[in-house]
Amino acid sequence: MADKMWAGRFSKEVDETVNAFNSSISFDGRMYRHDIQGSIAHATMLGECGIISKDDSSKIIEGLKDILKDIEDGSLEMDMTAEDIHMFIEAELTKRLGDVGKRLHTARSRNDQVAVDIRLYLRDEITEIKVLVLKLCKALCDLAQKHTETILPGYTHLQRAQPVTFAHHLMAYVQMLTRDYQRLCDAAGRMNECPLGSCALAGTTYPINRQMTSDLLGFDRPMENSLDGVSDRDFCVELGCAISLIMTHLSRFSEEIIMWCSWEFKFIELDDAYATGSSIMPQKKNPDITELIRGKAGRVNGNLMTLLSMLKGLPLAYNKDMQEDKEAIFDSVDNVKLCLKTFIPMIETMKVNKDKMRAAAAGGFINATDCADYLVKHGMPFRDAYKITGRLVAECIDKGLTLETLPLESYRELSVLFDEDIYKAISLETCAGERKSYGGPAPEAVKKQIDNAMKTLKPYFDEYGIN
Ligand code: ARG
Repeated sequence: MADKMWAGRFSKEVDETVNAFNSSISFDGRMYRHDIQGSIAHATMLGECGIISKDDSSKIIEGLKDILKDIEDGSLEMDMTAEDIHMFIEAELTKRLGDVGKRLHTARSRNDQVAVDIRLYLRDEITEIKVLVLKLCKALCDLAQKHTETILPGYTHLQRAQPVTFAHHLMAYVQMLTRDYQRLCDAAGRMNECPLGSCALAGTTYPINRQMTSDLLGFDRPMENSLDGVSDRDFCVELGCAISLIMTHLSRFSEEIIMWCSWEFKFIELDDAYATGSSIMPQKKNPDITELIRGKAGRVNGNLMTLLSMLKGLPLAYNKDMQEDKEAIFDSVDNVKLCLKTFIPMIETMKVNKDKMRAAAAGGFINATDCADYLVKHGMPFRDAYKITGRLVAECIDKGLTLETLPLESYRELSVLFDEDIYKAISLETCAGERKSYGGPAPEAVKKQIDNAMKTLKPYFDEYGIN
């Protein structure tokens, strides 16, 4: 076990179990690049402000760059008994540079150091998640373009309700994901403030330049209050929440895909590369990806709860409880990326069975509202029209008929307002095609939705070269 940097105050070595319990390098080791990035900015500032010599500053920067290179090419292994990534890198620097290395931590604490590192790390991760969300939006818009006329039943309570188009269904998810994207942007924007220079909690007596480190690290501004700088993890909660919502949307979509793959629906068929088999039942083709996504949505929600519960009782400023932030938020970040990476090509390759969708739409009396509306358009109050249509449906069920096959006499027995044109009014094409209200499922309305969504997304696509 390496000597502790804080060993001076202690008369014994820390117990080995305690050391392992306390150590976070197994999960914060992944921030090594960002830790070095933060330290280089700090060392640069210390040199520029004359807090350490320019010469020492350059040596520290070179030393940090060497360590980065050595970690990346595998020649430097992380010491898993180190307390955390910050201690490991500083100890390695001191091993290499002697006293010069020991000057790096002037006017800094691990408390502001870790607060910077997580922000830098998450900033990169958010960009990756954003790109994946955009790619999914693109895949859905592309698929929607092909299905503006594809009719399927819309459901409430999982009962067939009214006809919609497949494009309309897909574009609902595009709307949700676009908000998810914007939520990620908001979270990234709010977390882009620099806590470095907050030090342990109370700033420092050294003449540091916080604006300089903030600029060097690409933050918008230094954080205003040093206690806040080291104390809050609201940015982890906010990102965790944005991820939970992405996962919630993916999970609902997954649930639909799971149903749509079943023999009962067969609306879609997954590509063989994105489905799995059973070890015993030769006929099976299982939608495991979507089930895993549904499962992982729960775990990601758990992470959000971990973060909120971890914070809620903490007095200002830093408390070691906060070390628990990383596993929770890293797990959410890792999993949402994994889910998006598999979900996108699964959507791009799945086969859509238009005929099955249409056949399902033709059953279940999803044109009943339109039948009632027919009477309303001929002057009957809606509540009366509703009642009459209900009776017609009951009669159809009784006789094993549909509203399309029920003879006109049966209609006219209940209302003389019915005429031959009722059949056109309740045809699926009319029912879907006439739902042209803004945001509705009609091909005409949904094409507008795709255009509008693409207009909203275009600047985002351009920013990340997605086309
Ligand atoms: N590993 C710690 C964490 O993740 C770094 C900060 C430690 N600070 C301290 N005063 N013990 O929170």
